[in-house]
Amino acid sequence: MLIKGSRRMVTPLLIGAALSPLIVQPTLAQVLPQLGKAPLEQVVAALTLQEKVALVTGQGMAFPGLPEDMQAPAVGSIENKVEGAAGATVAVPRLGIPSLVLADGPAGVRISPTRKDAPGRSFHATGFPIGTALASSWDRALVQRVGAAIGDEAAAYGIDVMLTPAQNIHRYPLGGRNYEYYAEDPVVSGQIAAALVKGLQERGVGASMKHYAVNNHEWNRSTINVKVDERALREIYLKGFEITAREGQPWTVMSSYNKLNGPYTSESHWLLTDVLRAQWGYQGVVMTDWFGGHDAVAQMQAGNELLMPGTGKQRQAIVAAVEGGELDPAILDRNVTRVLELVLRSRAFKQLPHSDQPDLKASAVLSRKAGAQGMVLLKNEGGALPLPAAARLALLGHGSYEMIAGGTGSGDVNKAYIVGLPQGLGKAGFSNADGLEARYARYISQQKAKLPKTEWYLPQQRIPELELAPAQLQRLAAEQDVAVVTIGRGSGEFVDRSTEGDFSLTAGERQLLQQTADAFHARGKKLVVVLNIGGVIETASWGALADAILLAWQPGQEAGDAIADVLSGAVNPSGKLSDTFALQLSDYPASKGFPGKELLGPDPDAPSPFGIRTAREAEVSYDDGIWVGYRHFDTHKVAVAYPFGFGLSYTTFDYDGLTVDASSEGRVRASVRITNTGPTAGREVAQVYVSAPHGALQKPAQELRAFGKTDLLQPGQSQVLQFEIDARDLASFDSSRGRWVADPGSYSLRVGASSRDIRVQQAFEKEQESEYAP
Ligand code: BGC
Repeated sequence: MLIKGSRRMVTPLLIGAALSPLIVQPTLAQVLPQLGKAPLEQVVAALTLQEKVALVTGQGMAFPGLPEDMQAPAVGSIENKVEGAAGATVAVPRLGIPSLVLADGPAGVRISPTRKDAPGRSFHATGFPIGTALASSWDRALVQRVGAAIGDEAAAYGIDVMLTPAQNIHRYPLGGRNYEYYAEDPVVSGQIAAALVKGLQERGVGASMKHYAVNNHEWNRSTINVKVDERALREIYLKGFEITAREGQPWTVMSSYNKLNGPYTSESHWLLTDVLRAQWGYQGVVMTDWFGGHDAVAQMQAGNELLMPGTGKQRQAIVAAVEGGELDPAILDRNVTRVLELVLRSRAFKQLPHSDQPDLKASAVLSRKAGAQGMVLLKNEGGALPLPAAARLALLGHGSYEMIAGGTGSGDVNKAYIVGLPQGLGKAGFSNADGLEARYARYISQQKAKLPKTEWYLPQQRIPELELAPAQLQRLAAEQDVAVVTIGRGSGEFVDRSTEGDFSLTAGERQLLQQTADAFHARGKKLVVVLNIGGVIETASWGALADAILLAWQPGQEAGDAIADVLSGAVNPSGKLSDTFALQLSDYPASKGFPGKELLGPDPDAPSPFGIRTAREAEVSYDDGIWVGYRHFDTHKVAVAYPFGFGLSYTTFDYDGLTVDASSEGRVRASVRITNTGPTAGREVAQVYVSAPHGALQKPAQELRAFGKTDLLQPGQSQVLQFEIDARDLASFDSSRGRWVADPGSYSLRVGASSRDIRVQQAFEKEQESEYAP
């Protein structure tokens, strides 16, 4: 840490002891109001201006090259309690206010795996599946368990607030952090995020829903102005946050870096106070993203109570604004009060002990399970999967030997290991062709040695595919039973993905797939493709070459075991896509104008703590409005590679017995019976879409309003899933009225296995228009 501890503490007991022993004198600690004992107003009143300002700005952050004005000088008490945590708040010990520790991030607890003061010991955390993989499970109970496990690890390491869930909408496949986010649809995103929040917070660790809002890509994220109309904002970009805020009640919210229709989100009173607090009833703390925004005083006024990681410049600005009369001291007091309310909920305040020894074994079991549950079987022809028992495999593609557990940047967890695919498949009873693993290992290390050095926070550059001579592939096809080719993709914070060789396959990957398909198909043998990726890629041009495609996502540290579980059939895949896989990138409406345009040249004075957080004036207009994902593809009847909600199973399911009860004013109730009609036990995700009549507004053909997942159903077994849709959630946002409006007329409730595979549907009538305040 750059910051030294405070020297302002006094020793209260000694002062008391110096006075007459006959008269019981109050100690200083008794005179000063103590947090949790005295009323909060008294604690706030006892703080000096400097202490108040210190409480609403974090402790600061240390890393090489950080400009002077981004550091935070000492006020209050500074403690570096957990090495490698993202940040901490300031303590004021004389009033019993401890410091809170905040750590990233979505896939697990991100802290340093080693500590200077504990040589020889390790402080690893479990790498869980990425956000998109968790969402693809469509399993709220599972995600809640993951949240609880992350909460347990955070508690064991003395973390008070976890900087997760990250839940910006997947507007476009090239968003660099899509891997951390959940879905193109706000209902999946919001409900999965709410489940994670519940899990974390039931363990007494706070969550932080982020990045609020419209931080859908990385390019110029610190300055870009996102222009989006209010209907799209309410229905697509804010809806998921609204669901999470209402259902999950996260202790904190993190505002985003970007501007929204003019002001920075962190300086937007409308976004942080009018919408979040007044309309959604949010009662926690809003913090900035790290170094986010520009004007600390405007942030205070907007209701962004905590500026993270906290800088000296921000503190000076707030003090000067209070002293100069530009910032009402009551606003500062309000913000301090909210920060103290957060402190009161924290483990630090409750002085709960921490062991530094989380149960990593238990978490590993859960990570493996969640990894497998989030996988999506995209294709399975001729019973290619599950693999025949003890099959002899040809594991091809360097991706098969370099599992990608998760993305890079603040969402990257320092895990102890990543289970490799050959290891996982080996344990499941499969063998690999002799010498293949060693050959790839040599190749990978030679190629990596040639790569330019990549900073730790950026995705590693991919190496080219190893070229195998056709004769070698033919020999493999003769000797082995099945070819498994893994295509890997990394991505992460600070940079968006690219089209060539990222969204699309590289020429080397295409060649490998083609030649492997030729060699194995010539002998009547199968090609299985595993996609170890963090976001949507192009599949239409090469998908026909594969007999089976398993979308494994980045499934966390147990990657090899989790993939082997599904390939072997130990786990029947039940994940479904939370994004549409389009035929080509240009089919996404956002492709026009992504990521935006720069308005001025590079600003040499712009804050750039990592050297790459370039802050050029830029803007992007979300002209696609509400036409994001399946809302566009299904309404405008655009052919896709794999529709939203799609995913195969090793068994089949029938849907019947749909009931719809729309008689109550407040909600629509529905139920459907799902029966496993195939040969294998399995789980099914049923999705409830609603088609609404057109009133004043154009409506999507259908919108997801609810979903459910069965338990593991044995062959022939049925389960009835029940759904409830709040009448308010049938409405669209009419910006001209500033209201949610549900039109009268005929609605259709459609239950399906994907957005394009509706199995049962029923109409219901709504007699009158309903209007709801935002
Ligand atoms: C990221 C946040 C993260 C924070 C702290 C920022 O760069 O955008 O998601 O929580 O850093 O590490």
